[in-house]
Formats: sequence, C-alpha cells, structure tokens
Amino acid sequence: MKKLTAFVLISGFALSSFGQGAKKIAIIPEPVEITETAGTFTLSNSVIITGTSKAGVVPVANYLKKKLTTATSVTITEKANTAVYTIKLLLNSTPETVIGKEGYHLTVSAKGILISANEPVGLFYGVQTLLQLFPKEIESATVVAKTWTLPYVKITDYPRFEWRGLMFDVARHFFTKEDVKQYIDNMVRYKFNLLHLHLTDDEGWRIQIKSLPKLTEIGAYNVKKVGYFGTFAPPTPDEPRNYGGFYTQDDIRELVKYAQERFVNILPEIDVPGHSLAAVSAYPELSCTPGAENYHVRSGEVIMDWSVRPPKALVDNTLCPANEKVYEFLDKVLTEVAPLFPFPYIHMGGDECPKNFWEQSDAIKALMVKENLKTMEEVQSYFEKRLEKIVESKGKKFMGWDEILEGGLAPDAAVMSWRGMKGGADAAKMHHDVVMSPTDFAYLDYMQGDVAIEPRIYATLRLSKAYAFEPVPDSVDDKYIKGGQANLWTEQVYNMRHAEYMTWPRGFAISESLWSPKARKNWNDFVGRVETHFDRFKVADIKYAPSVYDPIFTASQTADKKVQVFMSTEMQGLDIYYTFDNSFPDNHYPKYTSPVLIPEDAFQLKVITYRGNEPIGRMITIPVTDLNKRAGKK
Ligand code: ACM
Repeated sequence: MKKLTAFVLISGFALSSFGQGAKKIAIIPEPVEITETAGTFTLSNSVIITGTSKAGVVPVANYLKKKLTTATSVTITEKANTAVYTIKLLLNSTPETVIGKEGYHLTVSAKGILISANEPVGLFYGVQTLLQLFPKEIESATVVAKTWTLPYVKITDYPRFEWRGLMFDVARHFFTKEDVKQYIDNMVRYKFNLLHLHLTDDEGWRIQIKSLPKLTEIGAYNVKKVGYFGTFAPPTPDEPRNYGGFYTQDDIRELVKYAQERFVNILPEIDVPGHSLAAVSAYPELSCTPGAENYHVRSGEVIMDWSVRPPKALVDNTLCPANEKVYEFLDKVLTEVAPLFPFPYIHMGGDECPKNFWEQSDAIKALMVKENLKTMEEVQSYFEKRLEKIVESKGKKFMGWDEILEGGLAPDAAVMSWRGMKGGADAAKMHHDVVMSPTDFAYLDYMQGDVAIEPRIYATLRLSKAYAFEPVPDSVDDKYIKGGQANLWTEQVYNMRHAEYMTWPRGFAISESLWSPKARKNWNDFVGRVETHFDRFKVADIKYAPSVYDPIFTASQTADKKVQVFMSTEMQGLDIYYTFDNSFPDNHYPKYTSPVLIPEDAFQLKVITYRGNEPIGRMITIPVTDLNKRAGKK
C-alpha cells in the first residue's frame, strides 16, 4: 500500500465515521492513493480535450464527451496536442510499472485535468474516477445549468485483482440485449471488467445455435407466471409458451463489441450436465431417462426436492454422460459459441447436478463398469473431463462451478467457487486458477435486509457482509486467485429495475473488495461514500436498495418464556423508533435503547429508523407471531 496523505486520512474518516451522509470526494472503489489539496477547478464553457492523436484514446475521449455533452452545456473541442487543455488523456509512451495495464494517474489542478495511463483501459478507469469527482448532476440525462466545479486532487490507482466480475443470469428470466447493455453501462462505473452471462438453465436456453435450432425454438420459452418463483403451479398444456427470448448470434456479437468498447469481457456460461431442462425439452434424446420427450422448459414449478441430501430431481434435468450423442451435441454447441466470445474462458456450469436419475439408468451403470467409475461424482467427473477436451479443442479454457472438483478435477480446469471459499482454496492448492464468488459474500440474489421487507428468497446478505468479501483465503497462494465476482441469479428478478435494486449497493462493496488495496478498506468510510453514490443514482435514475438504513431484528426467549426483541442498524448514527400499538412510529415514539419485551397482547411490531429529525429507513412491520417464531417460541 502506498503512503496516504494525512489530510485525506483525517478528512475521509472524520466525515464518515458516524454515518453522517454524503461525502465531498467519494470514489468507489476507493483508489490506491488520493491526495486532496485546497482549491477547486471550474470547467469553462469551452472545454478542450487533448491526447486523441494516439490510437486507442479516441473511444475513451468519445465516452467522456458523450457524458459531458449530455449533462452540461459546454462546447468541446478536440485538439491533437496542445499545451493548454481542459482535459488531457495521456497514453504513456514508456509504460510505468506501478500502475500496470489498468491503472492510471489523475490530477485536477489549476492547469486542468490530466489523466495518464499505460493503456486506453487505464484512461477509461481514470475517466470513471473523474466523473465521480464531478457534481452528481453529471449523471443527468438532460442538460443541467450549473457551475461544474471539481476539487483539486491527485490520484494514483490500479486494481488489486484482474478478474472483477458480475454474473447476470439471463436464463431464469430473459433480459433483452438493451437490458444487458444497461447492466454493462452501470458496472463499468465501478471498474468491473467481466460480465458472466449465465446463458442456459432449466428455464431457458438464450443463445442461438444454428445447427441445433430447437434449442431456441423450444428451449427459449416458457409460461409467464408471477409471484414466488419455484412455487408456481405446473402449467397446463394449453397455457401459451411465449415468455422468454434469446440472443441471435448477431446480438451476441453486438453485445461483445459493446462490452469491449467499455473494456468488459463477456464470459459465456453453458450450464451442463445439470440445470439442462431447456436443452432436454428441445432434444429429449440427450437425457438418460425414458419419457423425456414429455418434458417442458420450466416455468417456475417445483422440479427438485431440496429438502433431502443430496437434493433429488423430480424431473430429470440432466444431460446423460453415458450417451455419445451428448458429446456430439456439446461439440456442436461449443463450435458455435467459442468464436462468438473473444474471452479465453468458457464456463460450463457443473453445479447442482442431481444424480438420482443417473442411478436408475442402465446406460450409466454400463458406463461405470466400462470406465471403472465408483461413484456418481466420478461419473460427473468423467463427463467434465471429456467436456474440457471439447472446450480446449475450440481453443478455449475450461471453467466450472466448484462441484467439478468432486470425483476429480479435469487437468486444466479453472474453478469458480460458490459454496464458500473451500472449493476455490482446494483448487488453488492443486495449482488451478480460481475465481471466488461465495454465497456468503457475493450472492446478489439474496435479500439485503430483513425478510419482513425484502422480497423473500433463500438467505440474507447485507451490505456490510458483502463489504467483508476477501477473495484470498489464508494459506493460499494468491497467484491462483484471479479475482472474484458477485452473482445475480434471477429466479425472483423479473425486470431490470429489480436487477438494479439487487445489484446496488452490494455491487459497490464487491467492486471495492476486488479493486482496492485490502488495507484501504474501511466500512464506516465506505458507507459515507455509498450515500454519495445513492445521490448520484437518484440523478441517474438507477434503482438501488436502501436496505442499509433499515433495522436488523433478532428475538430470543427470556428465562420466564417471554420474547424480547433486539434491534440494531448496519450504519452508525441512526435512531430506531418502534410501536406495538399498530400506529406508525416516528421520532415522538419510544426510541430503542435496549432489548424490548413484547407486550402480552401485542399483534405487531412497527419500526422505523431516523437520522436526526429525518426518517431514513423504510417502515417495517413484523407480526408478533413471526417474532415468536424467530425466538423459537411455539
Ligand atoms: C450456483 O449458485 N448454483 C452456482
């Protein structure tokens, strides 16, 4: 870690340590080194951008120009090289080692704004930081009349990890090409450089494969339902299967180009051998199970029993490892997928593959004898090893979820560790490349606060926990940990507004865990910056979850079998007011100071948080029956 100026340490921490709201300089992710000096730079009406004579700088300059001309009324002149400039984008002629490929220096001074980097991507990240130094109105979609003033500052910055990803599940619910572009637009603000597209699952096959047209004719559509996905009634045969969609290969090329222009790689995931009901519905001969010709793409009905260990499929949603046609199928798929994505890896899933139908299959039994496979995990491992060869035959590297470790890891496989960090740590110890995306820190589909207010799903992952994400486990050589990513599964995410709500602000926390030096992370400081970015998102009309302002509840029983409620907040400096009399609490009601006993006949608890005299959290109502349950009281 570089030395910090005393001024920044003092000002940053003092401003934020009591959660006092928005900060003046509030960069996310926190830069490696930042020195603020007295003074401000004001943009005149005529802005000169220079540096664009060098190849690679023009797209970055254009990106910046578009932002400036959208929100401000300045006129912009590009000059190839000039001593007098407003914004200079300088590509180093001799690379500077400290900042590496993606790093940059940024100076705002009386002379103007200077961003220097070794590569255009570094300039692009310098521009992202620069935009965060502008007043929040720079996020406006229309011109705002105001004085555009920036603080004098000197920043040196570069990432901790090369893999800084977000996964977007476009299979459970389909998101259009324009939605994906919007997702990319938002992720690059926070210096994410990898978009993992989960392209296939039980609920949809989303990428055109010309040699296998039924994958999208049949596999891309199910029956539209709303409510709590996973609990829906099975569709009747006459319900129209017209909900969904897919990307044509031209769409994919357009998305890859759009991403590349923003220095984002797209990692495609084709999830096999489990999660394959859409593929099996299109081509039933890929299943081990007789009767698969009656299968349908899932519309959110129950298809697995998760209550048993290991979970059991009620419908066989797997490809059959004992069937040569499956490998021919995968070869055809990968022949078309590989050239569409320049990124070196292809992710082949491998997660949550139920084995109960394989256990019944004569073909699998014969395969086990022939290949001397002792367990179902070894059957999957046999499949993964053959799959790795197919992936490699297309000039790509093979990656899968950590289940691919079970039964023996394929020789060159990279592992994405999701069931905690252990799979990743084990793979790293075997000298395999690893990306960490553990559920406990990085699952964006999880609730951000209490189930009493958030849309219900399996578990809760609060902002503070996401912020504690540390991708390198103790005792692991960090050279194998390529980085990390957060995953947005979309079973319960039906539209883009909710995708945004689920991604932010936890995406801020993950971006800081992946970009910033470990020693620069500080929760209280971070939360202050988050609030500034909330203000920016309001101007940009990007939805975010305000859950960090809401109270946290736990309940327990006292020795005399009464139930007491404990309340706290993730953020410091908030007050909690509550009622048990069904009226709406405000700051004239009891303030929480210590555990509260539930009055004997109370029906519900209502709670709200305040900062000073202003309500800041959402009104939350919890029935006393729920609190009793939480306390284990029958
Ligand atoms: C996963 O969450 N099933 C990878």
